[in-house]
Amino acid sequence: MDYQGLAARAVEAKQSAYAPYSHFRVGAALLAKSGRIYTGCNVENVSFSATCCAERTAVCKAVSEGEREFTAIAVSGDNNDYLPPCGICRQVLAEFCDLEGFEVVLANSEEDYRVVTLDRLLPGAFTAGNLTPKDSVF
Ligand code: THU
Repeated sequence: MDYQGLAARAVEAKQSAYAPYSHFRVGAALLAKSGRIYTGCNVENVSFSATCCAERTAVCKAVSEGEREFTAIAVSGDNNDYLPPCGICRQVLAEFCDLEGFEVVLANSEEDYRVVTLDRLLPGAFTAGNLTPKDSVF
């Protein structure tokens, strides 16, 4: 896994962020199993709840291009403090990923990053299997 390369793409994607309200730019780079990388940035709105996070921008771009399976995402915020994806983005990523295998690269820069798997960020996730009560993890 080229963590550095993915981190670099997330840092670069941050430059396109539209964040006139929070002034907090976020970039993401999503690696599909096909090998293609889809980038995303946060796109804010004056109606704040209409804002789309960088991670979900990347997921929507990729899925709309025909991708369905992903192996990793790098995320980079303006805070240099290993920005973790928000709860909504974790749930959206879980829709298309193997929780134990999918890697989240929290990237402050190309050189400074941490890697965690999605199951650590979203324990006890609600997934398609939970739609039938017998599959409940609790
Ligand atoms: N943001 C993201 O893009 N991804 C996250 O995982 C956390 C939050 C954006 C949304 C908003 O534009 C700004 O960061 C401040 O919350």
